[in-house]
Amino acid sequence: METLSENLNVHFLPPLTTFKDKRVIVRVDWNMPVIDGKIEDTSRFDVSVPFLKELSFAGAKIILLTHFGGKGESLKPVADHACRALPFIKFLPSLNFEEIRGEVDTLPLGDAVLLENVRMFPGEEDNIPSLATAFSSLGDVFINDAFSVSHREHASVVGVARNSLSYFGPTFKRELEHLTDALKPVKPAILIIGGAKISTKLPLIKHYLDQGIHVFIGGAMAHNVWLARGLSIGKSFYDKNYTVPESIINHPLLLTPADVVLETRETAPYNKIPADAVVVDCGEETVKMLVNFIKNSKTIIFNGPLGLYEKGWLHGTEQVLVQVTESQAKTYLGGGDTVDVAHSLHLLKKFTFVSLGGGAMLAYLASGTLPGIDAVTKQ
Ligand code: 3PG
Repeated sequence: METLSENLNVHFLPPLTTFKDKRVIVRVDWNMPVIDGKIEDTSRFDVSVPFLKELSFAGAKIILLTHFGGKGESLKPVADHACRALPFIKFLPSLNFEEIRGEVDTLPLGDAVLLENVRMFPGEEDNIPSLATAFSSLGDVFINDAFSVSHREHASVVGVARNSLSYFGPTFKRELEHLTDALKPVKPAILIIGGAKISTKLPLIKHYLDQGIHVFIGGAMAHNVWLARGLSIGKSFYDKNYTVPESIINHPLLLTPADVVLETRETAPYNKIPADAVVVDCGEETVKMLVNFIKNSKTIIFNGPLGLYEKGWLHGTEQVLVQVTESQAKTYLGGGDTVDVAHSLHLLKKFTFVSLGGGAMLAYLASGTLPGIDAVTKQ
């Protein structure tokens, strides 16, 4: 089994008393779903709480950075929640670095200032050096505790880390410890992956097929494979800008649904999809087929819904999730939509590990690193 390298270990946190009277920048990911001003799922905030309390208790002066929602959206609803839950946090809704610096300079020991949504600062997503320098000049030390956004080469993720003495926070460390096990899983293993776009997931699929691991692809991604095999997918959605390479199409370890559910609620075998039909989910035969693999696996990695989630076609995903949690295997779950389904079925506690990252989990499992990791370790 892969263990975390020395290179990563040296960037785990020293005792927090080291940070007494130091200005500590902490990048968190508090990008949470908010409806009518109310946070629907506070998990990403909740995981930060124990660490921030300890850092405050240790006498650090904390500068909190996070992105949130769409580009121009104020962090206010999240900030209100954070300031209520942790009264040592003050929200500073300003994009003016003179004002921000003034606030940081007078910050009492143990207090924290939460900056406005980092994606409202011009240059965040292009990682422009002046913004990275402005952020890093606010602190003596940088802690990245936002694994779930560390696949982004943004100023508050990679720019600040490259300019600063940098560490991984505890949430990040947890993700690394578990997902490093999932990188080279104990075999037999299966990757169950769904969603719409096969083009972005190909490196991941290859990573597991190359290790002799079964990969089941569900959702609209399977449609691209069937099209490439010359089968009809009717009027179903597929990734139009992408042709699946020959080496994947007929790979003996690549699995696709055995049957499908159509928009009309009828089912059809995967190779008999009518010309005017739209596929919305995988069928019962597929679940039965997967149960065999699930029962025989020592590791199961699941990311992405197996049906048209946005339109409520959850049945296939739900059934497979239940089967996965009933297995004796080590089980890893990620991806916002899939985690939501597991959450509604009260299954989250039954997984070995639930990643807070969707895209970041996939990117890490495909390559064994992320831009945000390389920036901290200065690779
Ligand atoms: C997420 O929700 O997956 C992370 O917060 C990253 O957000 P992003 O996809 O907007 O970069």
